[in-house]
Amino acid sequence: MSTLVPDAQPPAQPGASSEPPPIGRLILVANRLPITVRLDDDGHFVAEPSSGGLATGLWGPHQRSGGLWIGWPGELQLSDGQKRDLDERLANLRALPVYLTQDEINEYYENMANGVLWPLFHYLIDQLPDDLGDWNVFRSVNQKFAQAVIDNYRPGDLIWVQDYHLVLVPAMLRRALPDARIGFFLHVPFPSSEVFTVLPWRAEILEGLLGADLIGFHTPGYMRHFTTSLRRVLGIDVEVDRLWQDDRQVRVGVFPMGVDAARWAGCGDSDDVTKQVSDLRQEAGDRKIIVGIDRLDYTKGIPRRLLAIDRLFTDHPELCERVRVIQVTVPSREHVEQYAEFKRRIDEMVGRINSAHATAGWMPIHHLYRSISQAEVCALYRAADVMLVTPVRDGMNLVAKEFVASRTDDDGVLILSEFAGAATELGEALHINPYDVERFANRISQALAMPEAERHARMEALRSRVLMHDVHRWAEAFIAALGKTTPEDRGSRRLSPPAAIDAVVEQVRRAPERLLILDYDGTLVTFAPTPDEAAPDPELLDLLQALAARDDTRVHVISGRTRASLDRWLGGVPIGLHAEHGLWSRITPDSPWRILRPVTQQWKEAVRPIMEHFVVTTRGTFIEEKTGSLAWHYRLATADFTHENDFGEFQAKELRMLLGEMLSNAPVQVLAGQKVVEVRPQGVHKGMVVPLLLATVEDDAVVFAMGDDRTDEDLFAALPDEAPTVHVGRGMSLARYRIRSVDDARELLRRFLS
Ligand code: UDP
Ligand code: G6P
Repeated sequence: MSTLVPDAQPPAQPGASSEPPPIGRLILVANRLPITVRLDDDGHFVAEPSSGGLATGLWGPHQRSGGLWIGWPGELQLSDGQKRDLDERLANLRALPVYLTQDEINEYYENMANGVLWPLFHYLIDQLPDDLGDWNVFRSVNQKFAQAVIDNYRPGDLIWVQDYHLVLVPAMLRRALPDARIGFFLHVPFPSSEVFTVLPWRAEILEGLLGADLIGFHTPGYMRHFTTSLRRVLGIDVEVDRLWQDDRQVRVGVFPMGVDAARWAGCGDSDDVTKQVSDLRQEAGDRKIIVGIDRLDYTKGIPRRLLAIDRLFTDHPELCERVRVIQVTVPSREHVEQYAEFKRRIDEMVGRINSAHATAGWMPIHHLYRSISQAEVCALYRAADVMLVTPVRDGMNLVAKEFVASRTDDDGVLILSEFAGAATELGEALHINPYDVERFANRISQALAMPEAERHARMEALRSRVLMHDVHRWAEAFIAALGKTTPEDRGSRRLSPPAAIDAVVEQVRRAPERLLILDYDGTLVTFAPTPDEAAPDPELLDLLQALAARDDTRVHVISGRTRASLDRWLGGVPIGLHAEHGLWSRITPDSPWRILRPVTQQWKEAVRPIMEHFVVTTRGTFIEEKTGSLAWHYRLATADFTHENDFGEFQAKELRMLLGEMLSNAPVQVLAGQKVVEVRPQGVHKGMVVPLLLATVEDDAVVFAMGDDRTDEDLFAALPDEAPTVHVGRGMSLARYRIRSVDDARELLRRFLS
């Protein structure tokens, strides 16, 4: 199973345990239970398997895990007695119902989840109603689901929240169960940030998801869109597969969902299915069978599919009477306005195409509008010569994979939309763009004429992949990654305990020789409104003097500032100075400044006008030019319009994204510092000076380093593992220790003197 979640753990805080607690039950939380219940005319419960990929897909993993499934049992208004009765029956399936009132169904499920989030996540913003509806009800129903989990949670349980209906649940659970392991999986696409940010509740949704320890997506593209939205809306950067939220680590990963391949492969063995397949073939005679099976949903691309079929019969009249199209559309979300309207449209199109092409003995399209049993689904998969899976957008699409899994005869051709998540895995299918109706029609005729050997070769390759990456492996991979999250993933941004800091002081004091490498802004001095105001105060100068005065101590300050600033402020102290992140070094007070590597300047010509544009549009900001870099400072940016983040942060994110895209192939790096966006040549970083400095001390010297921002991470990374490294303040860090503030940093240095 391909996953982007590696095994690597962040460096542990000294003294913390790295053993995850034992794993308990798996609690699945989804809007729907795997069965949907209704009352018949006599008041008896009737249960049917829920339709849709989530319910069919997760059923197997639920059965295997022996855990609990918490979800909505369907549209039912029951008395307390009836609820108790249903609770008991569902308990046999290890299912726990969350009952919703009619108002909740209307507002949360129909209006918000399926009227707003569903179309938006599928890029269909023209489907959004003018009035988006009541988010408060959506929030309170999410709280209802969260409460059901909280009431049933036992320490050690893994909680796995599913899909777009419950995006707020992870954060709600995190508040109530700070130590629980919580996963979230999105079964639909995560759209481009340009589309996602249309939602008025974009920040709350992202914050809701970040309550999880692990957030999974079907494809790398969806994950990328999510991380871009995080940066845009919340200003949070993702480091490959993880990010920090408060003092917790959150991982993101790609887990393409599979199907219960063995079950679909075995489905054709039953007499019932064998008979249905032979009936279907007999009815078709020597006609080829084309099958489509979809929930009746505007994302499934049914109208364009019908247009392609229309086109096929128009362009290839010789195929009339030689092809039978069976389209099953499963009723879905019938009370949502867009769906009811869509159903009328499909009926009208089928009618029109049938009357245009039908003959006395032949009907081109057989349209079944109903839910069918799994045996019937399986029979259709096995009888199909060509399977059409052509959504305009789909998170994964399990029908495509089920079709492949059930073709143990290695026959049949899959036509698959490039906008289905499954297309990233099923390369041997015939891919189409559903909007390109002409090519789509050609693809169908190509599929109908495909030679047997090619059909076998394609299907064999598809089948082995679908069998290998089945739904059980998918669930196991996700659960394993979630199970590996340890308590310190949720706490490693905490301040180091006093005893750990005491131990650092002891280690440095006892050392025969000490090398102190110190960042300046944010570490030795607090930030001032403009860079020029952050001059060292007498107390700091005295402290540095006192440290440098000791024979056994070498002090170096390494900063992003220019040589001129460092000379002006610290030139009189007998310490080493390193400017522009180590591009320039003046290793002893009497040595000259030396450039550590040549740098190119051409890229500045492309970057400067862009930064100048941001200076014009963002009052209070300015550009600083250094030998090797250009920096846009926005500490004094004034808010020009209202946004969740202040305007400076918003503009900084835009600038970083713009520069990141523009310079992706240039030998430069875009850095996010403290209220500064800086572009500098690749390979110029604070780690460069480390070999130089290590050469000035004996092997048994203790090397101590302290810093506060991203640029100091390069310094920490270049130091030996045993070096005591200290991060000042919040933010992600490789440093072994963490302290709160500049005051604490100075106090720590003072203790080295005593
Ligand atoms: N399916 C169903 N009832 C039917 C026909 C099909 O439940 O009458 C199942 C089908 O086997 C598949 C799922 O519905 O597992 C559809 O999943 P998919 O991922 O293709 O799309 P979704 O409906 O979830 O958007
Ligand atoms: C999609 C969604 C699922 C949903 C299913 C059926 O697969 O991702 O969460 O259960 O459609 O839709 P319904 O509204 O009937 O639950």
